[in-house]
Amino acid sequence: MSSLKTVISGVGGYLPQTIMTNDELAKKVDTSDEWIQARTGIKQRHVAGEGEFTSHLATEAAQAALQDAGLSADDIDLIVVATTTPDLTFPSTATIVQEALGMTHGAAFDVQAVCSGFIYGVTVVDSMIKAGQAKHALLIGAETFSRILDWEDRTTCVLFGDGAGAFVLSAAGSDDNGKGKGVISSFIRSDGRHRDMLYVDGGPSRTQTVGHLRMLGNQVFRHAVTDISGAIQTCADNAGIDTTEIDWFVPHQANQRILAGVAKKLGVDADKVISTVASHANTSAASVPLAFMAAKNDGRIKRGDLIMLEAFGGGFTWGAALIGY
Ligand code: UT7
Repeated sequence: MSSLKTVISGVGGYLPQTIMTNDELAKKVDTSDEWIQARTGIKQRHVAGEGEFTSHLATEAAQAALQDAGLSADDIDLIVVATTTPDLTFPSTATIVQEALGMTHGAAFDVQAVCSGFIYGVTVVDSMIKAGQAKHALLIGAETFSRILDWEDRTTCVLFGDGAGAFVLSAAGSDDNGKGKGVISSFIRSDGRHRDMLYVDGGPSRTQTVGHLRMLGNQVFRHAVTDISGAIQTCADNAGIDTTEIDWFVPHQANQRILAGVAKKLGVDADKVISTVASHANTSAASVPLAFMAAKNDGRIKRGDLIMLEAFGGGFTWGAALIGY
């Protein structure tokens, strides 16, 4: 077993300036603030401006995380961007961020696991750090879902927002930085049979178009509650930890009712579940680090806390990661 462990040395995030409220959306499609809040908990979402791309959001979040870590781009040897809304089909958004940060060394690539991308990214970066392949990595979840929404489909366009969040993940000796610090366990899963419940109906090979997001929301909802609860339980069991020992749950922010359903199923105190659904909506791969940042900035998440990250998304993909902060 590796003597290295992966610690969070910095956290950052970025949200585009423009905010779209539910009332503004109700002018575009047949919906209401009342319906959206009651069924999802969402009050508003941030939307990227014209000429503002996923890489721009990612770069801002990366710079904030670097500042929080007290590191510069020179210290970073790996960039992983979790995104489903890349600037271009290729090159990867990670390489565009690499250039924007002025880096001419190291490696950069994207991870595509839709809303679970950040949890997949934690697993990939943790493995690479423990294998000695990187010392300081930037893991970024960045999305401009506003660009793949069908703005005439009220069943989907009300649910998503744009944003980016980032962690600096660093190698530490197993005796450094205190007991229990760093990634303790992670668990990722997928099941390709459910593709038709949540997908984008375009792509370079099949249609030569970008396509729009399509979702059978209520069916996805049921899978999400069951699979997220299972992932959290497995991740905790693998670490030999009882879920009651966890200080904070930082979930993917798809729907307040999913957050509540998972907490109820696991018998978790709802006050321990960080929620940014109301102000960010669902920012896909960005939602977990953005929620982490919000709770760190308002003083809830503190160094030494035991944190469970989790997510569920298209594929289906899902997973969880237990981290000592
Ligand atoms: O991040 C990836 C994972 N994504 C998710 O986890 C999303 C999971 N799904 C959900 O969050 C929920 O299923 C939704 C928020 C998408 C929908 O909530 P729901 O309680 O499952 O509603 P529903 O789809 O069963 O629709 C109920 C009614 C329907 O009308 P009828 O057929 O009962 O007359 C819909 O047409 O609500 C209607 N409806 C709306 N009404 C006003 C659907 N969207 C809207 C809307 N405004 N925006």
